[in-house]
Formats: sequence, structure tokens, C-alpha cells
Amino acid sequence: MADVVFDGRVAIVTGAGGGLGRAYALELARRGARVVVNDLGGAVDGTGGEHSAADRVVAEIEALGGEAVASYDSVATPEGGAAITETALDAFGTVDIVINNAGILRDKSFANLDPADLDAVLDVHLKGAFFVTQPAFRVMKEKGYGRLVFTSSNAGILGNFGQSNYGAAKAGLVGLSNVLAIEGAKYNIKSNVIAPIARTRMTEELLGPLAELMDPEQVAAMVVYLASEECPFTHEIFSAGGGRYARFFIGATPGWFAGAGVVPTVEEVRDHLDEIRSTEGYELFGSISDEIGFLLRHLQGDA
Ligand SMILES: NC(=O)c1ccc[n+]([C@@H]2O[C@H](COP(=O)([O-])OP(=O)(O)OC[C@H]3O[C@@H](n4cnc5c(N)ncnc54)[C@H](O)[C@@H]3O)[C@@H](O)[C@H]2O)c1
Repeated sequence: MADVVFDGRVAIVTGAGGGLGRAYALELARRGARVVVNDLGGAVDGTGGEHSAADRVVAEIEALGGEAVASYDSVATPEGGAAITETALDAFGTVDIVINNAGILRDKSFANLDPADLDAVLDVHLKGAFFVTQPAFRVMKEKGYGRLVFTSSNAGILGNFGQSNYGAAKAGLVGLSNVLAIEGAKYNIKSNVIAPIARTRMTEELLGPLAELMDPEQVAAMVVYLASEECPFTHEIFSAGGGRYARFFIGATPGWFAGAGVVPTVEEVRDHLDEIRSTEGYELFGSISDEIGFLLRHLQGDA
């Protein structure tokens, strides 16, 4: 099969001054995309900021013969999000791809979490993805083409001690991507989620000796595919790290149907919990209407 190429495509990668975002930006540029390298340049907890992080990656791309422009705006405000898309339009005339990757950590056990740690994390991860994606989505809708990648985390999909703020933001991104997959479908806008695992400054103390085997470039191979024109998928979630690539999915068990118009007792629900919880024959619904359609078939006696 032919190589995956990005000739003429314009990509925004947020948080691309280091770690995973840098790997995505470099791989996209190597394959012909023109890239907005956005990074505030702050510390892992989101404090501070300096231009050199984004500038360094732009210089790396230019050294490869690629095209890139730096953006130092924070994703965490509507003005910052708008400015990031403006940078793409001013420099390259359009935007085809948004990879929402910028992120910070403010880990604390739930009982000790301050409201400020909640706000900071929701602002960058969850609201930041809204603020960056909305102006770009409008351009994509107009042109009938777009690829969106949202960065979730196993901490949000599965849970992790001390990350209630981060986990909530990361699970919220799955909801955002699912809605944009549905809203974007008729405009050829595909929206997917990555749950990465890689050695970066964010994880250097967590991964231990195995860190050596977890390159950001391994995750980039999957993310860059999701950002490509040939990606046929939307509304999906992928796990990538250490050379393993897999799909997470939210399935629904076929469940137990009490009967049309029947209000069961608490005891009847209790007595059917095995059936309610059994994952055998699970369903994958692509939208809320799919699940309602499934219920309607039961109500009409067709299931
Ligand atoms: N590394 C992993 O194993 C892992 C696992 C799960 C999820 N993630 C997620 O992947 C993404 C990338 O993380 P990473 O591991 O490369 O860490 P990283 O700290 O190297 O990268 C995050 C980047 O985002 C930038 N950033 C932070 N706030 C910003 C803002 N307001 N505006 C613009 N840029 C901002 C930072 O300056 C930094 O360069 C994050 O969303 C993170 O939560 C990483």
C-alpha cells in the first residue's frame, strides 16, 4: 500500500514543544504537513511559560526541510484557542487537522484536592480542547474535511489514584470527541481519541525502568494515522504505548428487559443482575439514537 502522506494538509498540534506533541509534529512534518507548533512552554504543573519550547521544534522541522510556525498561546482561554487557529490561517491559509495534546498535572488525593487544582486541569485539558477545536471545526465544516484527535488517558478511562481532576478532564474528552464525531460526520470530519503511554517529562518518575521501551514516537505512529485522510474511523478510542496498539470501547450489555410499560420491583432488578451485568453479546452503540433504537425494538416486541 502507498505511504500515508499529508501533502498540502495543515495541522495544529497543541503542547507540541516537547514530549508526545513534539513527536506528532515532527512525524506530520516529515510526511508533508505544514504544522502549527503550539506550546505555552510552562512546567508540568502549568506554571511559567517560555517561547523556546515551540521555537526549538519549529527549528527541528525546518532542519528536516519541513514547514512549521510557532504559537505560544495558551489553549486554556477562548482567546488563546481562537489565536491558535488564526495562526494556522495566517501562515498556511487553512486548517485540516487538530491534535489536542496540551496538558498539565496537579495530582492530589481527592480528599486533599483544592478547587484551584481542579480549575487548572479542567481549563487546559477539557476547556482547552473546546477552545482550540471550535474555531478550527468551523473552518473544517465549511471546507468539508477535518481530522480531530483528542488526548485522553488511561487515568480517565480506567481511573488512577490521585488523579480525580485529571481523570475527570480526560474522560470528558471522550464525550467531546464522541459528539464531534456525530456532528462532524456529514462534513467528513473524523474525531478519535488516543490514550497514550510514553516516556516524557510528565511520566519520567512513573514508568520506572520500562520507560526506556516507551518512546513517544511509538504513539506518534498511531496518532499520525488517525490524523490522516485515509483514516476511515471516527468515534473511537485507541490505546498506544510501548509498541502495543489497541482499542478501548464502551460497550453495553444486552441487559434484561422487564417488559413494555412494566415497573419492576427492586427485588426483580436484584434477581436479574447476572443478566444485566453479563457482557456476553455486548452491543457497540455509535450514538444515543442507536441505543434508543435498540430499546424501541424491545418495546415493540421486535428484539
Ligand atoms: N506521557 C504519557 O504517558 C501520557 C499518558 C496519558 C496521557 N498523556 C497526555 O498526553 C499529552 C502530552 O503529554 P506529555 O506526556 O507529552 O507531557 P509534556 O509535559 O511533555 O507535554 C505537554 C505539553 O503541553 C504544554 N502545555 C501545557 N499547558 C499548556 C497550555 N495552556 N497551552 C499550550 N500548551 C500547554 C506543555 O508546555 C508541554 O510542552 C497530555 O495531554 C497528557 O495528559 C500522556
